[in-house]
Amino acid sequence: MAEIIDTRIEPDRAIEKACAVLSGGEPVAIPTETVYGLAADATNADAISRIYEMKGRPRFNPLICHVSDMAMAEAHVTFDPISRRLAEAFWPGPLTLILPQRSEGTVHALASAGLNTLGIRMPEGFSRRVIARFGQPLAAPSANTSGKISPTSAAHVEADLGAKLKLILDAGPAEIGLESTILKVEDGRLRLLRPGGLDAAEIEALTGLPVERPEAAGATIEAPGMLASHYAPGAAVRLNATDVHTGEALIRFGGKALPGENAAALVLDLSPSGDLREAAANLFDYMKKADASGARTIAFSPVPSEGLGEAILDRMERAAAPRN
Ligand code: TXA
Ligand code: MG
Repeated sequence: MAEIIDTRIEPDRAIEKACAVLSGGEPVAIPTETVYGLAADATNADAISRIYEMKGRPRFNPLICHVSDMAMAEAHVTFDPISRRLAEAFWPGPLTLILPQRSEGTVHALASAGLNTLGIRMPEGFSRRVIARFGQPLAAPSANTSGKISPTSAAHVEADLGAKLKLILDAGPAEIGLESTILKVEDGRLRLLRPGGLDAAEIEALTGLPVERPEAAGATIEAPGMLASHYAPGAAVRLNATDVHTGEALIRFGGKALPGENAAALVLDLSPSGDLREAAANLFDYMKKADASGARTIAFSPVPSEGLGEAILDRMERAAAPRN
């Protein structure tokens, strides 16, 4: 079973122990501001292999590399001027940039699944201190079994991967609760590969450029992990519910009661006051709670599509997508 160290109580021991486990080529679950990550030394092929094994993740699906500062990023990737401005404005934070790898970079090809680009970000919070001390980028996907909902607490990680892990660092609930926004700058155009914890409108405001969405669902998969069925709870999912069927678990928004609610197995409100940040932070935890209620169906009431609503709706749609 995994040892769990609370970083708020024992920060120094957490860092020392994490670095020791990482140096031994083993993954460690680390808290980031978006979701908990399953981190390993990005320069060590065996360590990266263990991430894929633990998650049951297909090896064609590349991992995001996490750095503690710009110098560490620049040792492995090259920045075009727009990406550099974005990094300067939004790092540390919930933005992943897809950038060309440097030939002299030492991130192992297993981390990037053989692509000549690297997904890279500088996380906020305790994980950044771990990376700084470790001195090498950490490859880290979300710390969940492949295809399952991402963990936003140490308890989520423990329930899913606790038996396989040596160490989980617990920094409390993830502040943002949704994975990072993934952006690729190509020929001066901004392409959104995954909506996430950074509102695309903030990217547009900084650059004065439009953020381009993929034309249609099912178009070429640019971020190879963005397969439709992802973030899947065990229960079936019903979107845009305007009423509740008997025995369903309801996840609603904005304090609005729905007809039929009193016959629901469980009613949760992502944000009674209608705050999308609060809704994002609660989404995955509530999906897990609704799933654990034993209800056969989870009904979601509508959420506004602006701001963080885009990423919230994306995750809801993925939860509802047909499974394979
Ligand atoms: O917030 C996050 O991004 C979290 C925390 C732990 O940092 N990580 C995360 O990782 O969500 P993961 O593995 O669950 O999702 C990473 C996504 C995948 O869809 C993957 O295909 C894409 O990033 N990706 C990674 N490298 C890429 C590359 N070189 N080109 C295109 N997509 C890439
Ligand atoms: Mg993931």
